Parts: sequence; C-alpha cells; structure tokens
Amino acid sequence: MQTLTTIAELRERLAPLRGRRPVVLVPTMGALHDGHRACVDRARDVEGGVVVLSIFVNPLQFDDASDLGAYPRDLEADLAACESWGVDIVFAPGGEVMYPEPQATFVEVTDLTTPLEGRHRPGHFRGVTTVVAKLFGAVSPDVAVFGQKDAQQALVVRRMVRQLNMPIDIRLAPTVRESDGLAMSSRNARLGPDGRARAAAIVEALREAGERLRSGERDPRRIERAVHSLLEARGVRSLDYAEMRSAADLSPLERIEGRVILAVAARIASVRLIDNMVYEVAGKSVTVDMALF
Ligand code: PAF
Repeated sequence: MQTLTTIAELRERLAPLRGRRPVVLVPTMGALHDGHRACVDRARDVEGGVVVLSIFVNPLQFDDASDLGAYPRDLEADLAACESWGVDIVFAPGGEVMYPEPQATFVEVTDLTTPLEGRHRPGHFRGVTTVVAKLFGAVSPDVAVFGQKDAQQALVVRRMVRQLNMPIDIRLAPTVRESDGLAMSSRNARLGPDGRARAAAIVEALREAGERLRSGERDPRRIERAVHSLLEARGVRSLDYAEMRSAADLSPLERIEGRVILAVAARIASVRLIDNMVYEVAGKSVTVDMALF
C-alpha cells in the first residue's frame, strides 16, 4: 500500500495503469470504521481494480465550525485499517493541496439537495459535490463507492456525475450496523453510554416502519407519526426529521408504492446522527432493507 499526498504523485502512480486496470475510488473523511470497510469490500469486487481510498476532512461541507473541530482524526489508525483491508493507494492530501487558493468554483445539484439534510445543513451538499468533483478530477476514477447510510449524498453525487457527463460508475455499499442496530458512524464514539442506548431507537423505528408496511399501512404521514412517537417514547426528543420519500428522487409521497426511503436525523447527547431504510412495496408485497440503487 502506498500513501500519497499530492495530486501530481497520484497521477504519476496511476498513469501506467490507466486503460489496463479500473481505478476505483472510495472517498472518505477518515476516522475509518466497518462502514468504510464495506465500501472497500465493494471496491475490491471490481475485477482487477486498483483501490484508491481518499482521506480528507472537507471544511467546505461543515455548516457548523464546532462539528468540524470535533471531527475525529487519526491518520495512523486509518492507514493501518487500509493496509489490512487491502487498499492499494491512500490519497491523504492536506488543505493546501485540496484548496491551494480560495475556492471560487462550486458544483451545486439543485432539487435533490432541498429536503432532509439540505434543509437542516445549508451549504452542506454544495461542499460535498464541490470536493467530490475535485477528488474525481484528481483521481479520474472509473468507479466510485459511497455508503448507503448517506443515502441523499449518494443520490446527489449520482445525479452530479450523470448531468456533468463524468464517466464514473457510482456504486453503493450497504449500511453496516453495530450489534444493537446502530448504524456505524465516526460520530458514535461521542455518544456516551446513555446516548448510545437512546440512539439504538433509530433503527428500531426504521424496522417498526417496515412492520407497519407489512401490516398494510400505505399512508406515509401515519408511518412518520408512528416513528416520531416511538422515538419520543425512547427519549429521542431532538428530531430534525423522519420522512418517507421516493427512493428514486426523494420526492414527497401521497401514498406508499414502489421503492421508498424513510430517512431520519436526530440529535442525541449533542451528536447529530442520520440513518435510513429503503423498502420496496409492490401491492401487498413488502421487502425491507433494500439497496437504494
Ligand atoms: O461521506 C463522506 O465521508 C464525505 O461527505 C465525502 C463523500 C468523503 C466528501 O467529503
């Protein structure tokens, strides 16, 4: 495994492989956990692929300076994880490499970025799409892998790639969960025991929604209300949203049919957590916990 910090070194290293082996990028902000490992596993599924994992905490996507300051950083542990997962190249640029001058060019996907995270984190997706476009420009991957836990981000990046004619195949890795069902996140370490116990209610609510669908409920508002009540009863009072939407484009639903997503964001012990579950509803048949795409 090689660790490179400049775009020039990275391009030089990848140049002889171009056209012979697919370049597969896993973009991350470090603080790696098994959710990232699932992305690397998905990347390694690409036959003959060279797996490049990038580590860069992107200031442009943080709307809250304290959240950026609290973001965990441990490059040594990240490199050890990458080595053991079979990553070929780690690209770990500093701020001076990614933003050598004040950034005046931005990539913005509209519509898809308006609801859910977009409503609660102004500017977040503009920061994500801008840095992902910059990483794509630096790495020129054939395939890029994102986690389904950040479902809206994955949809936004897929739309960016399609609409900007970037020849990159966007693939998804499934959400990896702790034994109590909590979705893996670098933020989980900040929850503390009480917060940790309450956070498990989020996946309970997502599963409960699946049960209601199986019992024939097709009204999205009633499912959202049930999720609100369950979370409140479990001590999760600071809920940003719990919304059921189309899994294709996050449009609002009047009635549940087809592939739908229930997305939840809550603040627990001052840690903001997001999670989601995708369901496929075809008449009376309901499949819970599907791939988003
Ligand atoms: O999901 C993340 O870790 C980040 O949003 C990403 C895609 C690496 C961009 O900074």
